[in-house]
Amino acid sequence: MAESGTQHRGMPMSTSRIEIVESINEFATLLKDIWISAAIQSIESNNFFSAALSGGNTPQVIYKSLAEIIPIEIWNKTRLFQVDERYVSPEHKDSNRKMISETLIKSLPSTKAEFHNIDTDLSIEESAKSYESLIKNKVTCHNKIPSLDLVILGLGTDGHTASLFPESIVLDEKERLVSPVYTSSEMHDRITMTYPLLNKAHNIIYFISGAEKADVLHNLLEKTYFHYPAAEIRPENGSLTFLCDRESASKLYQ
Ligand code: 6PG
Repeated sequence: MAESGTQHRGMPMSTSRIEIVESINEFATLLKDIWISAAIQSIESNNFFSAALSGGNTPQVIYKSLAEIIPIEIWNKTRLFQVDERYVSPEHKDSNRKMISETLIKSLPSTKAEFHNIDTDLSIEESAKSYESLIKNKVTCHNKIPSLDLVILGLGTDGHTASLFPESIVLDEKERLVSPVYTSSEMHDRITMTYPLLNKAHNIIYFISGAEKADVLHNLLEKTYFHYPAAEIRPENGSLTFLCDRESASKLYQ
């Protein structure tokens, strides 16, 4: 049973909504309608649909079912991108490219879908610059900035999203659309889409699951003074949707 349409203080009221479902297994069904609707609209206007995918664990179950629930006609006109990447080889166990390839790309029917991954064989600076150029070339621009049709995000327990971590200088980036992020060694250095690019997206969806996210989600949506990096995801002319399971939403509305 989903509760929908709830809006929360601190988020762009006109564009945010939250859907709560019993389990993560229902996420793909909710995503399907949003994905197909956004794709049809973009394909009609631009002849293709652009979607950027995050890494992490939560979206894996969703990516595993996407290949079969989205019609091939849409895949034929889809350009997939990465929201962020760990600066590791594509074969590394922590590679988001590896995870997306294994959960989604390998399951796609023979289609013309394009998967534009972040090239971590380049230096980290060159990788970010190269990816920014690719996005400018492959995504429809509005006012000279690419506007992705759909972005899938996760939420860390520290309030990060993408590779936009608390206290990181990338939070202040106002020009670059893709940036390197230098972190502590166990988290790997990263390449990430920045606020200037993410906030131009037409549809942003957070997938949030598990009791360990209950506090951060409660603080993000209902205690705006926490100033999490995720709180600055405010699509300028787009929708912002939180798809949460019952466990992660357990401290909302208290
Ligand atoms: C990454 C992701 C990252 C992720 C959050 C939440 O590369 O790890 O882009 O931002 O979305 O850390 O991860 P979970 O969904 O696995 O909790």
